[in-house]
Amino acid sequence: MAPSASDFAQRILSRTAVVGVVGLGYVGLPLVRVFVEAGFRVLGFDTDAAKVAQLAAGRSYISHIPSEWITAPVRDGRFEATADRARLAERGAQLSYNDPQIRVLPKMRHFKVPPLESRDLSADFLAGQDCILIATDHSAYDYEFIVRHAQLVVDTRNATRNVARGREKICKA
Ligand SMILES: NC(=O)c1ccc[n+]([C@@H]2O[C@H](COP(=O)([O-])OP(=O)(O)OC[C@H]3O[C@@H](n4cnc5c(N)ncnc54)[C@H](O)[C@@H]3O)[C@@H](O)[C@H]2O)c1
Repeated sequence: MAPSASDFAQRILSRTAVVGVVGLGYVGLPLVRVFVEAGFRVLGFDTDAAKVAQLAAGRSYISHIPSEWITAPVRDGRFEATADRARLAERGAQLSYNDPQIRVLPKMRHFKVPPLESRDLSADFLAGQDCILIATDHSAYDYEFIVRHAQLVVDTRNATRNVARGREKICKA
């Protein structure tokens, strides 16, 4: 069973949550710095092994981002850079998806993803997820039902625009 929203909030407040930053570039590295300075341990992922090697050695590879942002946090373990996607699962990340048209996720050309099967969006399934990410605005979905049962919804398509109840659970992205 996934941790509840209040457990998650507690882990944020107590700084015991580990923050994952995906993409360690112009946006990702300042984000790493913000979270490190706020007292979190940060695990950064990037697909570029050469950049990861530089960062893991405590060096910035971007000229206007000073290495001081990186060196001390790497040395004392507040920031770790990796190119190994499996580390996401090690940090407790679990990913499920639903697509009524694509029941089994096909092999990707560029990305290695674990074999995944579309999960039915039952009330129990929705309630058991830390966060529901909406990546499509499609008539196949009952967004009222999704919001009613989800703990937290990140809506990247404004698909929930007509949902009246539970709006406090929706973050638009
Ligand atoms: N730089 C800006 O001012 C700015 C402003 C607004 C939005 N954005 C958006 O933010 C995102 C990042 O921009 P940036 O400027 O930091 O780019 P960037 O090229 O500096 O950094 C992106 C990093 O992500 C890595 N990456 C690519 N695919 C990845 C994957 N699948 N998993 C993990 N890492 C991956 C790349 O190797 C690279 O190091 C982009 O989507 C960009 O459009 C950037």
